Amino acid sequence: MAEIQIRDKRFSLFLSENEILEGIKNVAQNIRPDLENKDPLFICVLNGAFMFASDLIRQLDFPCELSFIRLKSYESTKSGGKIKEVFGLIEAIEDRHVVILEDIIDTGYTVYDLKEKFSEKKPASLRIATLLFKPEALQLAVIPDYVAIEIPNKFIVGYGLDYEGHGRNLRDIYKICD
Ligand code: IMP
Ligand code: MG
Repeated sequence: MAEIQIRDKRFSLFLSENEILEGIKNVAQNIRPDLENKDPLFICVLNGAFMFASDLIRQLDFPCELSFIRLKSYESTKSGGKIKEVFGLIEAIEDRHVVILEDIIDTGYTVYDLKEKFSEKKPASLRIATLLFKPEALQLAVIPDYVAIEIPNKFIVGYGLDYEGHGRNLRDIYKICD
């Protein structure tokens, strides 16, 4: 399916499931030497990162934990502004090696804010792994530690990411048509 309709917008095929999984394998290979002996705690940012977390964690063959948090949701096709609240973190992260798993870094506000909030809890280390990164859209100086795929500054959907709540179930990633 090269073009699809979601709500009022057209999207065209952009990244295949195989390309996505290749990117995730690279991330897993890069994480391994940094964290394999550190029993890291991965924290998946819901909703968007659930597929990324699921595929990444299965590429890791060393002891680790996975947990989930939820943030105030993203509005439509625009980004930016501070996130309001983090829900659901029950694990103590003090002295833990923490990796935040994000679906996408766009303006960088979400990850910037998350890093600030998590740093206050004194983790031993704090890293960011993101499935997608839009360097052209970045407004704050946040450099992710691990990136599966860099993409241009276009709105995308699929593989966990949504447009108005829809499209998360798509196996491939689609880009909005101009
Ligand atoms: P940021 O705070 O601008 O970096 O945006 C991060 C959040 O916005 C991500 O975690 C996504 O939930 C959402 N987001 C940003 N760009 C897109 C996109 O192209 N498609 C779907 N969601 C997006
Ligand atoms: Mg998100």
